[in-house]
Amino acid sequence: MIKSKQILDEKDKRLRKKSVDVTFPLDKKYIDFINDSIEMLTLSQIEEEAKKYNLRPGMGLSAIQIGIDKRIFVIVLEVDEGKFENYIFINPKIISHSEEMIYVDGGEGCLSINRETKGIVPRYARLTTEFYDIDGNIKTLRLREELAIAFQHEFDHLNGILFIDKIDKNDPYKNANNMRAI
Ligand code: NI
Repeated sequence: MIKSKQILDEKDKRLRKKSVDVTFPLDKKYIDFINDSIEMLTLSQIEEEAKKYNLRPGMGLSAIQIGIDKRIFVIVLEVDEGKFENYIFINPKIISHSEEMIYVDGGEGCLSINRETKGIVPRYARLTTEFYDIDGNIKTLRLREELAIAFQHEFDHLNGILFIDKIDKNDPYKNANNMRAI
């Protein structure tokens, strides 16, 4: 399992690196990252497990957050009470997206950012991604709402971008009227 102390803090310059595509077959260390992240993200969303392992709740993790500069990230979405869906994105591309923009009403969070942050992070409401699965098969998936936001948050990590970069410093709630809160 990925431990909290392995996750790089926002001040760490490695988080600003642009990650590079990975080649197949996947090296064992990348498969380990995927499996260890799924375990950590799942447990982090179950209150008593999170307490036990001292985990902050999180639904996504990119490889660069533990210092691996490869274009890989994992999302664990709670679809029902205690029921989770895992998504693994390798070398992902956004091939199309909606005009409509949305944002998380309560603000986004990130396992690399250990402070309260407020403000609007504009995200596409829907997008289509092309990516590779763990076996190197190319896949296409259409994402919307919360999953689309989580995807874009992690996709930004691959390019060295943190969600706090996207909040207007002078006016954190700028353009609220042009976007839908979820
Ligand atoms: Ni993050």
